[in-house]
Amino acid sequence: MKGTVRFLVLLVLGLALLAMGALHIVSSTFREWFERDLLLRAELAVNGNRHGLARQWEAGNLAALTQRLTDITRDERILAAAACNNEGRLVARTAEWPAGVDCEGFSEPRVSTLGGTRVHATPVPLDGESARLGRVVLLHDLSFLERREAQTREFLFTAFAVLAAAAALITIVAARLSWLGWSAALRRALSGKSSSEPREFQPLLRDVRDLVERLTTEKEVEGQGRWTPERLKQTLSRHLHGERVVILANREPYIHHREPDGSISVRHPASGLVTALEPVMRACSGTWVAHGSGTADRATSDKHDRVRVPPGEEAYTVRRVWLTDEEERGYYYGFSNEGMWPLCHVAHTRPTFRIDDWRHYQAINQRFADAVLDEVDGEDPIVLVQDYHFALVPALIRERLPRATIIMFWHIPWPNAERIGICPWSEQILEGMLGASVVGFHTQQHCNNFIDSIDRYLEARIDREQRAVVHHRRSTAVRAYPISIDWPNRWATEAPKPAECRAQVFAELGLPADAKLGVGVDRLDYTKGIEERLLAVERMLERFPEHRGRFTFAQLAAPSRTAIERYSQLNQNVEKLAERINGKFAAGKWKPIALLRAHHEPPAVFRYYRAADLTYVSSLHDGMNLVAKEFVAAREDERGVLILSSFTGAARELTEALVVNPYDLEEASSAIATALAMPADEQADRMRAMRAYLAEYNVYRWGGRMLAEAARLRARERLTGRLTDRLLGLERPA
Ligand code: F6P
Repeated sequence: MKGTVRFLVLLVLGLALLAMGALHIVSSTFREWFERDLLLRAELAVNGNRHGLARQWEAGNLAALTQRLTDITRDERILAAAACNNEGRLVARTAEWPAGVDCEGFSEPRVSTLGGTRVHATPVPLDGESARLGRVVLLHDLSFLERREAQTREFLFTAFAVLAAAAALITIVAARLSWLGWSAALRRALSGKSSSEPREFQPLLRDVRDLVERLTTEKEVEGQGRWTPERLKQTLSRHLHGERVVILANREPYIHHREPDGSISVRHPASGLVTALEPVMRACSGTWVAHGSGTADRATSDKHDRVRVPPGEEAYTVRRVWLTDEEERGYYYGFSNEGMWPLCHVAHTRPTFRIDDWRHYQAINQRFADAVLDEVDGEDPIVLVQDYHFALVPALIRERLPRATIIMFWHIPWPNAERIGICPWSEQILEGMLGASVVGFHTQQHCNNFIDSIDRYLEARIDREQRAVVHHRRSTAVRAYPISIDWPNRWATEAPKPAECRAQVFAELGLPADAKLGVGVDRLDYTKGIEERLLAVERMLERFPEHRGRFTFAQLAAPSRTAIERYSQLNQNVEKLAERINGKFAAGKWKPIALLRAHHEPPAVFRYYRAADLTYVSSLHDGMNLVAKEFVAAREDERGVLILSSFTGAARELTEALVVNPYDLEEASSAIATALAMPADEQADRMRAMRAYLAEYNVYRWGGRMLAEAARLRARERLTGRLTDRLLGLERPA
């Protein structure tokens, strides 16, 4: 419709221009004809009276000459006449000849205004018996010509206006008819009633289908209320026809451990990835492929290296992959944790890249890819590849199963493109990841950094509109999926009431009932800012001495990656720092820092969360940080204050926390003091808002969004695959 209106406006403008042009041509032609006509008429009038005029002129009979001139002016268009001699002097004139006007300037035909009237002066030479006497000048009335011109103009404009109206009408009718036909054909094509899709509709139909798919996915994600395990399961069976999900993650969700007495215990590793993915796997079922790192893992696995978990519930399978110590050193400690981990975290530890580690990383990525291929059913499975340990796996799976739906989720930050270039194998890493159908990060910033890195290091096309990268004619969507925890949270549900937890924890720490408790829960990792956290506690006690003897900070620190020197250094540093601060402030039985360096199982961690007055998450750089979310989940009593580093992904979501820069000890120590003084109703307001957010944005939603996206891509790939087969004349099993 817009196009038709634009066409009509152009049409009217065009016709108006045409009318003006035509008018100009017609007027000048008309004037030319008219002048020629005047000349002819003047010659005719003079020649008809030539004899009499010449005779009277030669005889010097001026009265008779004037009479002859008056006779000539009987023609209604001739206003006046005069006889001018060869010297340009007025010899005789009719009474209408303007007084005071002589013969000067009338040697050639011309238009002039005499006595307020526009006239055309036409001189006609007059010869006598033997010589030229002079000329007769006739003044023609020009108002006639002007009247004619005005009439012509009017006529032309009317004609063009009628033409424009007719053309507009025809255009509107034609557009309406073609729109009706076009929309009917489009409706037929969209409803699938048409046996063939008109060529011109194909791009439009593609867009419409895209939009419908997108809206369906959005409806799936946003509609129907809160995400639950059941809803996630339904999404899987409705949109992915219950297809089994295979997850690949280095860390296994249950580690079987041989105790010194020979018995076997099961541990839940301290890992954000496990915290998030385990509930998803329980809901979806399928297989989790991981490194079998526990001392009793082999003993508890079957001959296919599989074990059903969770113990006693057996909702899904863990497939264990075995590594030698050397392989683990190269692939896990070396390339993954001395190379990629510090590369991706801006936490001031230099990345180290060694060729041997890289070779191990390549070989182990291949081994895990093979294990995944063992576990999948069919040609187009759904595989969720997790984290920086497996950057090469998506491309390795893609090579063998071109139709697989592979979602790669990167649990740690993705730094800027310049920094990525530090890795000598950055191109291989990026190419490996682009084997995935979707690459996910926690934040849009990390997605942007990833796209910039691709732009910088690979020959690939960036499709910013679709938020995708096209490499080797394959498209990989790049999306932000902020990870979360299960809600209602399993461990929070199972934990004792807050008062009971507080009593237990205070007893363990030997604190009096009126003491205040701060808690930190981390793997002992330099990215977590544990040193900065303890320094903030020290600074708070310096600045606010009223808390001395009353406030204790309990740091639960799970030893992690201890085979790496930087981590063993960190262990020592944290220990020394805690000792120094305790030495500075300790009084009687009280000491400000309780450093609990050990692995704590989730029930113990949740008791601490519930016992605390505050939790301080001080990461120097963190993709998300689920400790912050777990603390909120634990506080059904709506008490306790969360202090959160602005360098965590979680800070973008949990905005009711006290958000601080962990490097700024003044700000961080003020936040601790503020938290300790915060009134109960403000604590409740903040906690309630964060709990409401997490109830909505839980890990089932995270998984659901990714699976819905996978379903959308799958549907599209199947459709394009079918079309391609049809074009190639191949048949594909349904
Ligand atoms: O949450 C980030 C993360 O790297 C996870 O991806 C990983 O599982 C976790 O930290 C613990 O690390 P690791 O598995 O090396 O003990």
